[in-house]
Amino acid sequence: MTKEKFTVTAALPYANGPLHLGHVAGVYLPADIFVRFLRMNNHDVAFICGSDEHGAAITLRAKKEGITPQEIVDKYNKIIGKSFQDFGISFDIFHRTSAEIHHKTAQDFFLQLEKNGKFIEETTEQYFDEEFQQFLADRYIVGECPNCHNENAYGDQCEKCGSSLNPTDLINPTSTLSGKKPILKSTSHWFLPMDRHEEWLKEWILEGKLDGVQQHEPKTWRNQVTGQCMSWINNGLKPRAMTRDLDWGVKVPLPNADGKVLYVWLDAPIGYISATKQWALDNNKNWEDYWKGDRKLVHFIGKDNIVFHAIIFPILLKDHGDLILPDNVPAYEFLNLEGDKFSTSRNWAVWLHEYLEKYPTKIDELKYTLTAIAPESKDSEFTWKEYQARVNNELADILGNFVNRALVLTQKYYEGIVPALGELTTEDEQVLNILQEFPDKIASLIYAYKLREAQSEVMNLARLGNKYLADNEPWKLVKTDAKRVETIMHIALQITAKLSLLLEPFLPTTAGKLRSFLNLNLTSWEEITKNSILNAGHHTNAPEILFQKIEDSFVEQEVADLQATKEVPATNFPPQKPNVSFDDFTKMDIRLGKIIEAEKVPKADKLLKLTVDTGIDTRTIVSGIASYYNPEDVVGKTVSVLLNLEPRKIRGVESQGMILMAENEQGELSFVSPEKEFGAGGEIR
Ligand code: 2FM
Ligand code: ZN
Repeated sequence: MTKEKFTVTAALPYANGPLHLGHVAGVYLPADIFVRFLRMNNHDVAFICGSDEHGAAITLRAKKEGITPQEIVDKYNKIIGKSFQDFGISFDIFHRTSAEIHHKTAQDFFLQLEKNGKFIEETTEQYFDEEFQQFLADRYIVGECPNCHNENAYGDQCEKCGSSLNPTDLINPTSTLSGKKPILKSTSHWFLPMDRHEEWLKEWILEGKLDGVQQHEPKTWRNQVTGQCMSWINNGLKPRAMTRDLDWGVKVPLPNADGKVLYVWLDAPIGYISATKQWALDNNKNWEDYWKGDRKLVHFIGKDNIVFHAIIFPILLKDHGDLILPDNVPAYEFLNLEGDKFSTSRNWAVWLHEYLEKYPTKIDELKYTLTAIAPESKDSEFTWKEYQARVNNELADILGNFVNRALVLTQKYYEGIVPALGELTTEDEQVLNILQEFPDKIASLIYAYKLREAQSEVMNLARLGNKYLADNEPWKLVKTDAKRVETIMHIALQITAKLSLLLEPFLPTTAGKLRSFLNLNLTSWEEITKNSILNAGHHTNAPEILFQKIEDSFVEQEVADLQATKEVPATNFPPQKPNVSFDDFTKMDIRLGKIIEAEKVPKADKLLKLTVDTGIDTRTIVSGIASYYNPEDVVGKTVSVLLNLEPRKIRGVESQGMILMAENEQGELSFVSPEKEFGAGGEIR
């Protein structure tokens, strides 16, 4: 295998909260497996990450916790960094975007593009919160997504359908600061004219070619990544502001740009470069070797980051002029938890740092489960029951059982010394042939970013070993055919040795333990492909049990803890409206009315024409309640009516007032009726 050069990045987590298992399964663990595998193959790799410390995600969290943005990022950079370390994610550097070297790198990057004429400076109308005196972009503004109609889309992105948005695309936008409708106000910004890049992006994404030169193998890109990119491009890319009116972030390094910072999605991916620079400085290397020339850049990300890594950052890298573009962008779908989405605000999460504090010796159990269920091609779900089943039925019963039998019997029969291989049966030959195929099969799967399948192949090898021992029953045969048992045990030990290396990218702790039982000091992939890893006569050590079974009570307790700490969902109700004077209130004439007739309004699905006895007259009121009430069901009901609303024509019928309705969180409507039997006419005040 030729040695190649890789720069592998894992999405910079926002330093606004701890990591949960969804983040781990869908970015950091797969990236770590991939990198450990590359290192075993002696490829030249840099594995880069850090915390993303700018943008509204940070300032809004700081506001919520009542501390400064700096305090927030310091707090979470530490918690996240420690979790990665304790979990054994093998970054070469875990950096942070608040570092000075990052600010300088991002500013230089911006200036280079500005100098190359890659931005357009333009004054446009942007949403502004009058109460907070702040322009509203990104997470400062929410509204309905024009594509999927999710009502909580952010100003830069809809997290439901993944669309990339501008605040002015939102339907019914509201400020997340005041909860009010914003006004439009003009401000000037630097825009990236993404529309100018559609043609080369199409060729690069679909054919892997850049300026006619093959850059990557397009068929190795996941369908959902290519699909999402092409859907954006085909919908037409729009210019996107690369600066913001905010006081937290990397300052725009130009005169007349006071109060302006770089857009966090410009600054964050440049964080990969600045982190590489810091790592290069610390290790006597040249950062440019990792971002220029013949090298594969791979971004591990969640699906909500696709547009930023497969469209926007590539445009920026190309505009810069001398930097490589990603070779692949393996994006993961979302992981759910016990039947619901992970949610920080509802505290519906298994937090990585909490798991590690509680179960510091069960790291590989978690890694194994998360890779086995990783959301590679579609959303998937973590449950404690599944965790128990994976640990008990696979890690303990298959892998643990097999290697324990192989090593314990070797101790028992040969004092730990590997016996010689004797005459082979057809089954032995078959097993040895199949054994030989595993490393290449697993390597191809890892190179194709199919880590879930790759890990399951490793477990298949343990299955093969288990079956081989169960079929041959050396513990019985030893009494009658000791010679034959030597061969069986030799083969079982070769399988164990292969496992100790094939497991290394996925379960490094277990693989290390296994190699120490086997008294093996190898970690290179090349060794695995050899026919025989262990020679006859080699000394092995007594094993320990690798995996403890998970009791039902463990699962029950974890599920109960989750339920107990779940927070009541945030309300969907709109915030309180501004105060009104008592005088204004008394201007409204609200009374009880009795519905005496009701019929559908022709050609209007939602409308009922009601005849209402108000106590002082009988009048016609048109009401939009037909989705909730049939005409025959409402006759005889006493309801609340606003009498003095100016009459207006609805579908040709004059409506003389309005029936007042209550609306619940799901948007269903109900009459507001007196709790006692009251007739028509009673005033409501
Ligand atoms: O979605 C997120 O959590 C972002 N903080 C990811 C940034 S990735 C990169 F570009 F830095
Ligand atoms: Zn949407």
